[in-house]
Amino acid sequence: MKLAIGCDHVGFELKPEIIDYVRELGYEVTDFGTTTNERTNYPQYAKKVSEAVVSGDCDLGILICGTGVGISISANKFNGIRAVVCSEPYSAKLSKEHNNTNILAFGSRVVGIELAKMIVKEWLDAEFEGGRHSERVEMIAEFES
Ligand code: RB5
Repeated sequence: MKLAIGCDHVGFELKPEIIDYVRELGYEVTDFGTTTNERTNYPQYAKKVSEAVVSGDCDLGILICGTGVGISISANKFNGIRAVVCSEPYSAKLSKEHNNTNILAFGSRVVGIELAKMIVKEWLDAEFEGGRHSERVEMIAEFES
């Protein structure tokens, strides 16, 4: 399972800890930056990670900015992306089970490292339940055409 990860300058300090954590869990990770704490713009990292997921180069994506809001809004502009911004694990888990989210976003100004890891773990462990939820996810996809 390959993960794409990206962040802006505000998410920069949290990202390496999340990369280490998901590697420990056994995931392969491609880091799409940013690579310094120099001021940058979150949409460009949302684009890189979204394109990696849509193309199939990576299975899932993780995005970090200050709140997770701007970077998730940006990711959701890409056809095929269902990005969720979470600051607690329950929504992260349900977003995969019911909404088949393929990108998880969170904010480094909102969650600390231990809570972020818990959110990531719940999201990665969860599986889409299909069934009645498939129909709804397909209805979302129809908005893209
Ligand atoms: C950058 O200052 C900040 O706006 C960004 O990290 C993010 O929180 C946007 O949603």
